[in-house]
Amino acid sequence: MNFTLKIWRQQSAKDKGKFCVYQVNNVSDDCSFLEMLDILNRQLLDKIEKPVCFDHDCREGICGMCGLYINGRPHGNDDGVTTCQLRMRCFKDGETIVVEPWRAAAFPIVKDLVVDRSALDKIIQAGGYISMNGNGAPDANTMLISKEVVDTAMDAAACIGCGACVAACKNASAMLFVAAKVSHLARLPQGKVEAAKRVQKMVQRMDELGFGNCTNSCACEAECPKQIKTGHIAKLNREFMAANLIEV
Ligand code: SF4
Ligand code: SF4
Ligand code: FES
Repeated sequence: MNFTLKIWRQQSAKDKGKFCVYQVNNVSDDCSFLEMLDILNRQLLDKIEKPVCFDHDCREGICGMCGLYINGRPHGNDDGVTTCQLRMRCFKDGETIVVEPWRAAAFPIVKDLVVDRSALDKIIQAGGYISMNGNGAPDANTMLISKEVVDTAMDAAACIGCGACVAACKNASAMLFVAAKVSHLARLPQGKVEAAKRVQKMVQRMDELGFGNCTNSCACEAECPKQIKTGHIAKLNREFMAANLIEV
């Protein structure tokens, strides 16, 4: 397969940045999107040109490091996959593909397609954890939890912190990310002890870091590679209201 790539190039956060056009030919339809970029970078290095910078780690849809805005969609035109899982067979032979970084005030561009997503880590540091004594794992039957609760909590726990929800949201809101973390922990007994403080601190930190507000358009749910549902945002809102009532 042959592709024309329009890729956002930006030397640093201060640089204005621009699209550059490249041609990549003879790409296998089984190639992942990142492997296709590897081929492009090999071509650029052979010509003593600067390779395109992009983030990645596991390349298995686990770590949440990869994240590109491809033809106007976070993680491209396949549903329920990360950029590293996206295959070139999802594109048409000869297609022009536009590749951009996540665009959100809270995710400043570092270089080319790499953005600084440490704002998500700061939200986690504000409360996305539980406190417990560090001993051996207790027997499973000492803490009975219904299957329905476990399933919903584990659906939320699938969030890999990629930031696609922020990139998809017209308000650059991190509500789906925060909701996934809050909903996961608040549903389980281990997370209930600090639930009220957690939701208050995480929402406060999200606001401080420059993410927008949620206006319920659900673009985040449509683009989330782990298909996390906006129902978790409703859970976050309920947890937040209940926490504020406790305080009153
Ligand atoms: S909620 Fe989905 S899109 Fe948002 S950070 Fe988590 S996995 Fe990524
Ligand atoms: S529901 Fe819509 S407005 Fe709310 S965070 Fe998701 S994309 Fe943004
Ligand atoms: S590189 Fe880890 S999820 Fe894509």
